[in-house]
Amino acid sequence: MKFNFNNNREVVALLGAGSMGLSIVERVAQNRIVLLGDVNEKNLAASADKLRYTGYEVETMQVDASDKQSIYAFAKRASELGAVKYYIHTAGASPNQTNPQHIIKLDLVGSAFALDAFGEVMARDGAGLLISSQTGYMLPEPLSNEVEYALTMTPADELEKLPCLSSEAITNSGLAYIMAKRANQLRVRKAAMDWGKRGARINTISPGIIVTPLAYDEFKAAGEAYQQMIESSAMSRVGNPAEIANAAQFLLSDQASFITGTDLLIDGGTIAAIKTGAYKLQIR
Ligand SMILES: NC(=O)c1ccc[n+]([C@@H]2O[C@H](COP(=O)([O-])OP(=O)(O)OC[C@H]3O[C@@H](n4cnc5c(N)ncnc54)[C@H](O)[C@@H]3O)[C@@H](O)[C@H]2O)c1
Repeated sequence: MKFNFNNNREVVALLGAGSMGLSIVERVAQNRIVLLGDVNEKNLAASADKLRYTGYEVETMQVDASDKQSIYAFAKRASELGAVKYYIHTAGASPNQTNPQHIIKLDLVGSAFALDAFGEVMARDGAGLLISSQTGYMLPEPLSNEVEYALTMTPADELEKLPCLSSEAITNSGLAYIMAKRANQLRVRKAAMDWGKRGARINTISPGIIVTPLAYDEFKAAGEAYQQMIESSAMSRVGNPAEIANAAQFLLSDQASFITGTDLLIDGGTIAAIKTGAYKLQIR
């Protein structure tokens, strides 16, 4: 027996089949084909099952989001399945999960390749979302205009050679994560110009602390600092993936048809606490 799940052959591609990504996909994938990509086969299988048993048509592909060829193969597969309506990028690793070099390769350079690769296959009126982070607003010193421009415009193949991303400049995983997430927010400006030629839009969402496996890993390593950050934020609590999905659904929809190349910070007021002095940031 084979169910007929959809009749319009539109595709929703998600790279990084984790908690936040799934929450977003569940909002926008009715009557569409879902293509899930993840490096972790167990995550991929579990996420695919979760979607299949709640009525979505799902294909999976093992993809390494820090590898250019793998990313381009994923975009190609998406375009073979049908018209790529939505692209959602949530593949990432946090400071306590890996080393600085891997964070730059995955969270920064890999994201840039994905924006380029999907910029070549998006359907007209398609839309995309890259999940950045509130940490993109936590740079110890603001970046100069020149550095921001370089992070925005340098071809993805050459990003790792930028002096601001060298091992002398990026001395720990915390800083690597901050730079990567700031670069994500900048990079969608260039992508918006490329995607716009196809009538498609792309934005970032920068979440605060959202309870997912990744957040639990951070909490384990930085419990006390994390706890203080949460308590001093305007909302004094953590967030839930559904609270990101609410905004994602809007940004992907036609109601957001004039919104592209920008970032939406959804952090329960953590950055507000830092900027008003209610919380003193410690960068590890
Ligand atoms: N959870 C939070 O508090 C929080 C806050 C701000 C930003 N973020 C960002 O949100 C995004 C999604 O994270 P999440 O919280 O849903 O975590 P998650 O752990 O549920 O999802 C991350 C997914 O990325 C996958 N992944 C890791 N490396 C990969 C690779 N090389 N190639 C392909 N897939 C890979 C993992 O297997 C996992 O399925 C990440 O970019 C993260 O940095 C998370």
